[in-house]
Amino acid sequence: MKKIVIAIDGYSSSGKSTMARDLARRIGYVYVDSGAMYRAVTLYALENGMVHPGGEVDVEALVKALPLIHISFNPAGADGIQHTILNGKDVETEIRDMKVSSLVSPVAVIPEVRHYLTGIQQSYGEEKGIVMDGRDIGTTVFPNAEMKVFVNASPEERARRRVKELTDKGEAVTYEEVLANIKERDHIDTTRKESPLRKADDAVVLDNDKMTITEQMDWLLNLYQTKIN
Ligand code: DC
Repeated sequence: MKKIVIAIDGYSSSGKSTMARDLARRIGYVYVDSGAMYRAVTLYALENGMVHPGGEVDVEALVKALPLIHISFNPAGADGIQHTILNGKDVETEIRDMKVSSLVSPVAVIPEVRHYLTGIQQSYGEEKGIVMDGRDIGTTVFPNAEMKVFVNASPEERARRRVKELTDKGEAVTYEEVLANIKERDHIDTTRKESPLRKADDAVVLDNDKMTITEQMDWLLNLYQTKIN
C-alpha cells in the first residue's frame, strides 16, 4: 500500500500529539513528537547550567553543545506511550514539567537548534510511513507531505486540558498560570522569525474544541483514506 508523510501542526496543548500518536498506531505508521525533541534540548540546557537564574538561555554554549545532544525514542511500552531518550536516559517525565514548558519556546527560536532538529526530523521521513506533529512540520520540515492537518482549539479549552493532564500527574498548577503559559507560548511560536507556527496553504484545518477523541479519529482516518487512494 502507498505510504505517505502526515504532518500535524497546531498550537500547544491542542491535543495534536495524542491524535497523531493514535493515528500512527491505527495505520501502522511511525510516530514522532517533534515538540519532545525541543523539550529534550531545553532539558539539556537546564541540566548543564546553560540557563541563567533570570531564565535567559546561554545560546552560545547551547549551540556549541548541540552535537553532544542525542535524542531518540523508545517504542511504546506498557503505558502505550513512546518515551523520549536524551543521551541514553529516559526523560519522558522531566520534559513535560512546567520548568521545561516555560523555557522551551525561547530555546525553539534559536536558529541553530531548529536547523539541527529539522535535519534529524527530515531523516526520519525518508522512508515515509510517518506521522509527525509539531509547529512547522507541514511548512518547513515536510513541505511536500501528502497529508497536512492544522489543529485549532481555543486557549481556554487547551488550558483546561493541560491542567487536567498535569494535576492527574500530581503536579500542583493553577488554571491561570497554565493559561498564561499557553498564551505566552502561542505568542512566541507565532511571531518568531524562524519557522513560525502557521497553517501551510495546503493544510486542512481541524477545529477540535468541541470534538470527541473518536470524532477526531474518524475525521483523520477519512482524510487519510482520501490521500492514499
Ligand atoms: O508540542 P509541544 O508543546 O510539546 O512543543 C514544545 C515547544 O517546542 C513549543 O513551545 C514550540 C516548540 N516546537 C517548535 O518550535 N517546533 C516544533 N516542530 C515542535 C515544537
